Amino acid sequence: MQVVIDGPAGAGKSTVARRLADRLDAFYLDTGAMYRACTLRALRMGVDLDDSKVLAEVVDGAKIELLPAGEAGQCRVHLDGEDVSAEIRTREVTTAIRHLANCPEVRQRLVAQQRALAERTPGHVVAEGRDLASVVFPDAAVKVYLDASVEERARRRRADHGDQTPLDELQREISERDLSDQSRAVGPLVRVPEATYIDCSDMTIDEVVEQLAALVEAAGE
Ligand code: C5P
Repeated sequence: MQVVIDGPAGAGKSTVARRLADRLDAFYLDTGAMYRACTLRALRMGVDLDDSKVLAEVVDGAKIELLPAGEAGQCRVHLDGEDVSAEIRTREVTTAIRHLANCPEVRQRLVAQQRALAERTPGHVVAEGRDLASVVFPDAAVKVYLDASVEERARRRRADHGDQTPLDELQREISERDLSDQSRAVGPLVRVPEATYIDCSDMTIDEVVEQLAALVEAAGE
């Protein structure tokens, strides 16, 4: 069974997807980590981030591994054999990511890799990202759009990451990323009509996970 969770940055997709994957003994597919790893590779190589041909080569040459690492479905991200789990979350990578996320040649390659990963997985897959219900796994058994207000997402980012950036600045950054994610020509963040919409602004993590588990059960887990 494929369970896909789309939604804007900071809504809590990773946390609930990991918890759900742990509960279902499923493979947790963090597609954002793949865009992040390729962005890190492009930055390290010092290539022109606006050259789509070069970006495609950066992706073709990248070896990305999403490795389960113990408790609560946590996963480590390896790039070309190196553990880059922390480095792909830096501000520098987050700021540069739109160049790759908006590049059709990059998306086409990463979508193919995501499908191949799911195909190779013998059990269930819990995947999270932006275009999973609409593009990557349109036949997924469970589709969820996880949302939260910009204010709440900025507040959580501060609490979770210990980010000392002023709240209004974080809100502005999140809104900019929303706009970039929603307005790109290929693979934008969209809410497909058949997805269950969950606004988790006033929900606890446990409450969201319970709701997701109920959807999985209803879909015939
Ligand atoms: O989920 P996360 O915030 O780690 O994703 C980082 C960025 O990667 C997102 O802001 C988005 O631009 C891009 N992304 C994407 N498509 C996905 C997952 C992530 O474009 N399926």
